[in-house]
Amino acid sequence: MGRFNYYDNIAEIYDESRWIDDAIASDVSNFILKLVQAKPDTNFLEPGIGTGLNIFPFVQQGYTVTGIDISAEMLGQLRRKAGDQASNLTLIQGDASPLPFPNCSFDVVLTVHMSHGVSDLKTFGAEIHRVLKPGGFYLCPQWLIPTARLKFENQFRAIAANYTQKIEASRQSKRIDCDIELSQYLLERGYQEHYFNVKEWEVKNSVGELLKNFQSRAYGFCWRVEDAVFGQVMDKFHTFCVENYGSLATELSSQAKYELWSYQKPPHGN
Ligand SMILES: C[S@@+](CC[C@H](N)C(=O)[O-])C[C@H]1O[C@@H](n2cnc3c(N)ncnc32)[C@H](O)[C@@H]1O
Repeated sequence: MGRFNYYDNIAEIYDESRWIDDAIASDVSNFILKLVQAKPDTNFLEPGIGTGLNIFPFVQQGYTVTGIDISAEMLGQLRRKAGDQASNLTLIQGDASPLPFPNCSFDVVLTVHMSHGVSDLKTFGAEIHRVLKPGGFYLCPQWLIPTARLKFENQFRAIAANYTQKIEASRQSKRIDCDIELSQYLLERGYQEHYFNVKEWEVKNSVGELLKNFQSRAYGFCWRVEDAVFGQVMDKFHTFCVENYGSLATELSSQAKYELWSYQKPPHGN
């Protein structure tokens, strides 16, 4: 496996190291189906589909879903989930800009935590605009990192900062700049914007579970720590966790949040 796309390296542990489970994904998908007033023939496109964490419930319900992703390993995980039977799921490996589809092909285009991986956001915005049907929806959700996990992450980052200059503290609850830029492009083309606080729920993890995710380098910031010092950083962090939390069995709990910005394409014109 190469290191150039860190998602290839973490595909196997992607789902278990995030904090959306099947029940949450199902609730969110029901919200989205209502929002877009889905009919049986409503079709979905997710550029950067990954393991399908967000969109898999649509596949299970029989909707036509297309996904593109640059990571073969992430797509491999989704294929394994779907099995051979999902004839309503089409997966393409490659860069999601440009989008290899005719004009006005999709009712719903969804991107989740992927726009930072696109080299030219204006071109990507133009492509989303082009492939959406008139009156179609571009949906841009984000699920916020639960505060207890963010605090834990920042404790790791503080230790790692002693070993590498590539790490700094992480902040919460900001919409990412790339999503804002993308939405700005669509608003300029007459799209209607709506914001929804879709769901809040409690996430619980033991310190040991979180430590295991870090050890497996499940997150981008773990890959920023050079291989040569990663083991030392983890040893220090492990010691810190035992001293600070008393036991690796200690549970950390806080609220997670699923927010969604919706952009509806004007019903007339392309
Ligand atoms: C944070 S993951 C999100 C996966 C999925 N959307 C989810 O919400 O679970 C980002 C995904 O976007 C993919 N990706 C990033 N940049 C991409 C690009 N330019 N074209 C296609 N896929 C891309 C990555 O390979 C990865 O699978």
